[in-house]
Amino acid sequence: MLELFPKIEAATEAICQQWPHSAKVGIVLGTGLNGIADSLGLDVVLPFESIPHFPSSTALGHSGKLHCGSFQGLNILTMQGRTHYYEGAKLADVTLPVRVMKSLGVETLILTNASGGLNPQYAQGDIVVVEDHIDMLPDNPLRGINDDRLGTRFPDMSQPYDFELVDQALAIARNSGFIAHRGVYAAMPGPNYETRGEIRFIRKLGADVVGMSTVPEAIVAAHSGLRTLALSTVTNECKPYVATTTDGEEVVSVAASAEAKVKKIIFGVLEAESQKQ
Ligand code: HPA
Repeated sequence: MLELFPKIEAATEAICQQWPHSAKVGIVLGTGLNGIADSLGLDVVLPFESIPHFPSSTALGHSGKLHCGSFQGLNILTMQGRTHYYEGAKLADVTLPVRVMKSLGVETLILTNASGGLNPQYAQGDIVVVEDHIDMLPDNPLRGINDDRLGTRFPDMSQPYDFELVDQALAIARNSGFIAHRGVYAAMPGPNYETRGEIRFIRKLGADVVGMSTVPEAIVAAHSGLRTLALSTVTNECKPYVATTTDGEEVVSVAASAEAKVKKIIFGVLEAESQKQ
């Protein structure tokens, strides 16, 4: 982990050359949610490739751009797309953008993703406000010698997702007239979707949804002392006993059709954060 600090500094400096400000809120937009970045109308858009050490995003439905600017008087950074473990990089590098956001002043991080619904109460298109996670990935972004400038060696993980933000997100959904659940997200390495045996196994562990992202970023956010909110769109129901095919294109299209609900929650949280200033 000691190699991270100069990388964070270089990426921060490159962003500041294009957008010389600090930010309060960072957002990571997952599968099918690119449109939210466009609707925020932020001033400066930087392709990930133009930022030193930023991992490039090769995933379906992830455009790979960092949007920087002000929304309702609140400075924010929005990643339109992310990199996943299955794309090949080490998790310490996959999560570098979260560390760069922290270095640019971010205090609150909003993560979004698409997931498979394990909880039989969940339907396709439902939103899950993640209250906890189960890490099933074979790497950890904090592995290696700890850099005490970035965080503590053994970070607490009793509350990786801020309880207040969870309640706030659920209240926004309720007041806007749509269902959002409170659930546990399990991260699998991917890129293949789960077998029926794996679906039964992960459900037994206590997960409500399963996906291939978010957890490494939430771990780094906790290590960095950020408040985190994670919103998951159930794009497919994971059936434990019926062979139901899951298709990447369909995952992107269901996520995109539920975008308005995720956007409602994000805009509500941003409004509340801007009023705090
Ligand atoms: N499994 C893992 N990741 C996913 C799924 C799934 O069923 N749906 C969307 N992302």
